[in-house]
Amino acid sequence: MQRAHIIGTGSSIPERILSNKDLESIVNTSDEWIVRRTGIRERRISSNGRDESTTDLATRASVNAMKMAGISPSSLDMIVVGTVTPDRQFPSAACMIQKALNAENAAAFDLSAGCSGFLYALTMVNNAIRAGMCKTALVVGVERLSSIINWQDRGTCVLLADGAGAVVVDSTEEHHGILSTHLKSDGTFWELLYSLDGNSYVPEILQDVNKRPFHLKMDGNRLFKRAIGCMAEISREALEHNSLCSHDIDLVIPHQANIRIIKSLANNLRIPMERVYTNIHKYGNTSSATIPIALDEANRDGLLTKGAHVLLVSFGAGLTWGAAMLKWSISDGPGGRLEQAPPAPERQ
Ligand code: UT7
Repeated sequence: MQRAHIIGTGSSIPERILSNKDLESIVNTSDEWIVRRTGIRERRISSNGRDESTTDLATRASVNAMKMAGISPSSLDMIVVGTVTPDRQFPSAACMIQKALNAENAAAFDLSAGCSGFLYALTMVNNAIRAGMCKTALVVGVERLSSIINWQDRGTCVLLADGAGAVVVDSTEEHHGILSTHLKSDGTFWELLYSLDGNSYVPEILQDVNKRPFHLKMDGNRLFKRAIGCMAEISREALEHNSLCSHDIDLVIPHQANIRIIKSLANNLRIPMERVYTNIHKYGNTSSATIPIALDEANRDGLLTKGAHVLLVSFGAGLTWGAAMLKWSISDGPGGRLEQAPPAPERQ
């Protein structure tokens, strides 16, 4: 039976750093509050002058992943992008990336699943490979959330940021790679996090274009409580499905929305924080990009050894949540792909 495994990871983040101190001059907030309540110290925000659009960031992340995988763009059969901030409502970010990469043989499409976009996209590719529909695919999680942030809303603008991560997924006959994926949604709670921008829901949109009081609205407190329960529940489902227990997990890579959510999840699963990857202090919440960026950093920093069990788990707008259980297959030994790949870039 064909399985899917990750053979390359890549990421790209904007150059411009926006610190908590910088935000103190934009909204009524403080470095102390942001660090204590979220764990975020700084985040990256795209600049128009630096070629840091959604397509630019995603393309750079994809090139890095393909370099590690040692494949050319023409060998991609499929490009699936999880994003809620494509450069245009259409065509898709995936088609823009396809053009930038010159990946002429790929079928390309976007998928909207909020912060779970990457895990939803990974699931589609995993299933397509298992079904024999494709052999080699690119999965991207990318956001330019700064384009939809209300910079007057301190409840959200201190959290969200920009970035991209990508993985190359290939077919394999070995029993490793993506062991299982698990997805859930509950549209009942869509109003906990939504965008007002660019949709047919707003009547007389032409009249509203110049007003646009804000583009994104979030009930953080209610989301917070749901996030912990949903992420713990789906992590357990992934463990049970694979007959694994918490002790068997070498690294958890959770969605980076709030350090308190991540710590509660770890506590709930009885997994020590040393085995939970976090980079929220540097990048904030980049929605569908948090997991692939973290996966790439962990990989390049040598935290993922061949055979390691890695649990990816997400939660976001929709509501959507998901998990993937991986048995890591990139060789880190002599001659292994990782050995030939550069380490994670210094991002200070
Ligand atoms: O990415 C997936 C979806 N997103 C999430 O999962 C996010 C989940 N939610 C959270 O991370 C947290 O709920 C937040 C970080 C958004 C907020 O933290 P909280 O502890 O839930 O705060 P809160 O909303 O209950 O607000 C507590 C107080 C309020 O003041 P009052 O009414 O008690 O006087 C807020 O106005 O904190 C105030 N506050 C702030 N104060 C300083 C809210 N934002 C800020 C801020 N700076 N940036």
